[in-house]
Amino acid sequence: MISIKTFLGASVLAFAAAGTAQAAKLTFYCSAQEDWCQLMANSFQDATGIDVAMTRKSSGETFAQIKAESANPKGDVWWGGTGDPHLQAAEEGLTAEYISPMRDQLHPWAISQAESAGNRTIGIYSGALGYGYNSDLLAANNLPEPACWEDLLKPEYKGHVQMANPNSSGTAYTTLATMVQLFGEEGGFDFMKGLHANINQYTKSGSAPIKAAGLGENTIGIVFLHDAVAQAVAGFPIKVVAPCEGTGYEIGSMSIIDGSRNMDEAKQFYDWALSAEAQNLALQVNAFQVPSNKGAETSPKAPDMSQIKLIDYDFKTYGSSDERGRLLKKWDDEVSVLPQ
Ligand code: F6P
Repeated sequence: MISIKTFLGASVLAFAAAGTAQAAKLTFYCSAQEDWCQLMANSFQDATGIDVAMTRKSSGETFAQIKAESANPKGDVWWGGTGDPHLQAAEEGLTAEYISPMRDQLHPWAISQAESAGNRTIGIYSGALGYGYNSDLLAANNLPEPACWEDLLKPEYKGHVQMANPNSSGTAYTTLATMVQLFGEEGGFDFMKGLHANINQYTKSGSAPIKAAGLGENTIGIVFLHDAVAQAVAGFPIKVVAPCEGTGYEIGSMSIIDGSRNMDEAKQFYDWALSAEAQNLALQVNAFQVPSNKGAETSPKAPDMSQIKLIDYDFKTYGSSDERGRLLKKWDDEVSVLPQ
């Protein structure tokens, strides 16, 4: 028969063990829009009881952080942001291979992103690049309505155009890589140099230029079209332009960080984030990207990708470590240093 002393001893041990047991947790790096990041973190936490610590940073910044932390990884999962730096992270072994049981629910473009990266990343949404402008400010400054990329080089737009810095922002890197693919390397860099003369500020985050336009602090913002639509839907006088020459697009991506300390939770998040139910959360925060789950809803207000002249964006090349590094250095050396 068990003595009262043994029983108490066992209880004390059990209590002590419970006291030291760690609650399940997840460190979530997010590179989509802040309110969507917050909603994803809270919804996953509510659904699973896993404590989520979320940090939002732009795509290039998050890539740099994961790389800097690689000897002692602090993050578990990286959700959102343009695909190029996710592909670079995969190539550099900064992210982990994982094949989710949810994969067969996804569009082929999301799966091919995974296949080209040894299953170290996957597509979660897509969206086309372009620009938006504040129609009140344009009229107040007697400026013509731009319709093409080349229009943005006209001298009358000097000081009226804003974009992000391609080092920090995936949107801006997509812009740089799009120009190189549309106009060739020389033509693309000539375009970026001409544009530089009209730029009033390079922001850190990709969507900041169109938010500034919404507030009347900037006229034209080079952004993903879904970010421009979000400002128009919020009631700001923003017109959305899919440029006449054609344009690039992103495959917003998700990756598990190699060496994650909470690998089970990271996989749980990954599977959940690929579900139609989780992707439909976008509709609650006016996120107008096209979701990767075939069963998820695309908002009727989202830009219609089938009506936009899209280039055949070469994700493999422009998401490679060599090419992304080379183009960013060239932009730093030859464009950002030019006088304005
Ligand atoms: O605001 C949303 C969004 O445009 C995403 O579609 C995209 O992946 C991300 O922001 C890019 O942000 P950044 O340019 O700041 O890296």
